Amino acid sequence: MTAPETLRFENHKLILIDQTKLPGELAELVCTTVEQTHDAIRRLVVRGAPAIGIAAAYGVCLAADDPDDRESNDESESDPRSRYIHAIEYLATSRPTAVNLFWALDRMRGVVESTSVENLKDALVAEAKRINDEDRQMCHAIGRNGAPLLSGIDTVLTHCNAGGLATSTWGTALAPIYHLHQTGQAPKVLADETRPLLQGGRLTAWELSQAGVDVTVITDSMSGSLMRQGVIQAVIVGADRITARGDVANKIGTYPVAVLARHHGLPFYVAAPTNTFDLELDCGDDIPIEQRGRDEVAAPHGVGIVPDAAKVLNPAFDVTPADLVTAIITERGVIQQPTGESIARHFAEKCSG
Ligand code: MRU
Repeated sequence: MTAPETLRFENHKLILIDQTKLPGELAELVCTTVEQTHDAIRRLVVRGAPAIGIAAAYGVCLAADDPDDRESNDESESDPRSRYIHAIEYLATSRPTAVNLFWALDRMRGVVESTSVENLKDALVAEAKRINDEDRQMCHAIGRNGAPLLSGIDTVLTHCNAGGLATSTWGTALAPIYHLHQTGQAPKVLADETRPLLQGGRLTAWELSQAGVDVTVITDSMSGSLMRQGVIQAVIVGADRITARGDVANKIGTYPVAVLARHHGLPFYVAAPTNTFDLELDCGDDIPIEQRGRDEVAAPHGVGIVPDAAKVLNPAFDVTPADLVTAIITERGVIQQPTGESIARHFAEKCSG
């Protein structure tokens, strides 16, 4: 099974699958500037917490060749180090919620601050590639760690897309499914559409069907009645940011699915690498939630479906409190019933491990 190559860095260019065009067209977008990378992240050409971080890391490397920067009259901008710092700060404004973006940019900043100017360009590319490679390993480890939780069940529900398109390879929530699929033991997958941008209906359904996994798309409003009918045995989702006590920000609509799962006595699993944790935040209410434009809700595909006089809300994410989460699966293992204590232990084990 070959996973889609969500993003790659070749000849000092960042090449992205243009996810705004899927599933109709498998097209690539080539970024040669920091500005283009920022725009690609903002427009969700590349999306999903880990993929945003990797793309931004490569985006920093493009500052070396950015014509806008070369032409700058600002003296500080002609100094390579400040050019890269400027790129890091600019890319950090592309989207606010996924902490992986800031984590990856902090790694790039560390290289800028610790490397001699003559070695900087190569060192930054090497660091971005390391971030990319580590992500690949993390996805496979999450797959291995999460597989026993989904093994033997008939049907799992997932929300949004936390698959290969959201990372460098298998994804997070979909990684245990891909792991089990290798031996023909994957559960059937229900992908809810995920209004308003349909990451479930467009992206999860696309990548799972490409891989030969049995996937069925449902509308967001169907999951409750399917749980009631006993069709769904578990839920697995990804995350954009997890706080120290285990509150989880993920795509809008995750919280109601978690509430439904609890009501029906079903396990609700979150799969995410440790770099999705923001241990500086305790309470999920403090996670910055991206507010997106009106037209994504009011005029999907350019077709108006909401009267002009009506206001529209469009938060891109919601927060699921830790007590609704059965377990968090990371590349290090499984945190059952996450709490501040169990999460702190998980990270302590990571340090000593
Ligand atoms: O707005 P998106 O498409 O970037 O939102 C993506 C999600 O919410 C994913 O579930 C999350 O980033 C985890 S991806 C492994």
